[in-house]
Amino acid sequence: MSRLRLAFLVLLVACQAAPPPPPPFDAVADVKQLMATIIEPAAEVYWDAVGSVVDSAGTTEFAPSTPEEWTVVRNSAFVVAESGNLLMLAPRARDTAEWMTYSKAMIAAARRAIAAADARNAAAVFDVGADVYETCVQCHAKYAVEQVRPNAAKP
Ligand code: HEC
Repeated sequence: MSRLRLAFLVLLVACQAAPPPPPPFDAVADVKQLMATIIEPAAEVYWDAVGSVVDSAGTTEFAPSTPEEWTVVRNSAFVVAESGNLLMLAPRARDTAEWMTYSKAMIAAARRAIAAADARNAAAVFDVGADVYETCVQCHAKYAVEQVRPNAAKP
């Protein structure tokens, strides 16, 4: 065996023995802070984008009316979606099983929320908003019982 081939083999074995180090993630927010500063505010933008107001004049439906307003709604759905990945990163992940399932469920719902906003479909934004909310509730029911319904305290 030539020296070069031997050197190559040694290198190959060395590489296999030592996997590359994980990316140097540097989590700034703990789970509570991630919820309060990133996930909840973004979800509120999405939930508040479409709805109806009932007053003495009757029922008034509201929805984004300009491209800029739709972009804000779409962007908030992206924030919720990618936050699911932030939840799965160490040291935030509470375990390697259900925590991941709930985080992925939130990503999946938020992905549909992005599509609904991109389609500028107000009815779909309303419906998918409820699905996103359900994914918050599911995880809270297991890991944050005191927080089952994220905006329950609000009118
Ligand atoms: C994978 C699990 C998980 C998902 C999904 C999740 N949460 Fe949470 N959330 C938690 C946990 C755990 C806490 C409690 C954190 C603590 O107190 O340390 C929490 C707490 C909160 C809080 C309270 C923060 C505070 O300041 O006390 C809010 C608000 C919140 N979540 C909103 C949401 C919203 C909105 C969604 C969905 C769009 C969501 N969460 C999805 C796990 C999750």
